[in-house]
Amino acid sequence: MGFPTVRPRRLRKNESIRRLVRETKLSVDDLIYPLFIEAGKNIKKEIPSMPGIYRYSLDKIDEELKEIIDLNIPAVLLFGIPLEKDEVGSDTWNENGVIQTAIKYIKDKYPDLYVITDVCFCEYTSHGHCGVLYCNDVDNDKTLENTKKQVISHAKAGADMVAPSGMMDGVVKAIRQALDEEGFTDIPIMSYSAKYASSYYGPFRDAADSTPSFGDRKTYQMDVANKREALKEVALDIEEGADIVMVKPALAYLDIISDIKQNFNVPVAAYNVSGEYSMIKAAGKLGWIDQQKVMLETLTAMKRAGADIIITYFAKEVARLI
Ligand code: PBG
Ligand code: ZN
Repeated sequence: MGFPTVRPRRLRKNESIRRLVRETKLSVDDLIYPLFIEAGKNIKKEIPSMPGIYRYSLDKIDEELKEIIDLNIPAVLLFGIPLEKDEVGSDTWNENGVIQTAIKYIKDKYPDLYVITDVCFCEYTSHGHCGVLYCNDVDNDKTLENTKKQVISHAKAGADMVAPSGMMDGVVKAIRQALDEEGFTDIPIMSYSAKYASSYYGPFRDAADSTPSFGDRKTYQMDVANKREALKEVALDIEEGADIVMVKPALAYLDIISDIKQNFNVPVAAYNVSGEYSMIKAAGKLGWIDQQKVMLETLTAMKRAGADIIITYFAKEVARLI
């Protein structure tokens, strides 16, 4: 049976019927908002390439946190900019480090806000790479040792969930073991499982001061051209104990999100990264696109592709609209 009996336009006649047959809906329940915390005082600095996104010191962050809670956004993802960087990024496991202090502050004052920490080293190392260097490359297993110290210190400070983003082999297993040995069996791991060596991270690296001082991240982050490898990474992470798997970036990787969703049965998170945010903001500012509509369309497409969770700098704006 086909045309003229079948007329798909019948179900598009007006907004009421469109609402009834709509397959995908954005909800504030899906959103995680990234936050940049800088050590020091009296800091609220807008990131030039990310209008509306700021670096905050803790003494200036209350307004932001209250807004997030008022908008009913369930979770934040913390990134830290320490006072001092060194070869190994030792601030990441310092109990008085920038992130540990931030976790304690937030959980103490706003216990219901779910705090996730990004677990990596690039914002904390003098060279800007995601771990310990050996012969101009990141040494996988030495980095795992420091990663364990980092997650334990996050857990002790009160983090609700940890999210390793360095793309080291075996990192989920190392973290799960370390957390369990210390009695943190209830802290879930959201793994940046399929993280690509993407140029979409540019604005973030300005925001977090984490541009590598030499080379690139291609020996640990995935080749942009690969899809089967993403499925392999996800399978390994789930086997090692990942509770949630992530695809990053999101917009240019909807096929990866979709394939992972179809092949595995853990929640899938998509990271709508800095460059994706900046492009929409910039074109909107120039009047070349309708910023709000393109934002909603983009995030809806991520959900349609299969994302259960979206990490996005747009979280507050979206929450206001839906
Ligand atoms: C650190 C990290 C990065 C992002 C999240 N965690 C940057 C990178 O790998 O250089 C990117 C986030 C964004 O672009 O919004 N490993
Ligand atoms: Zn990193």
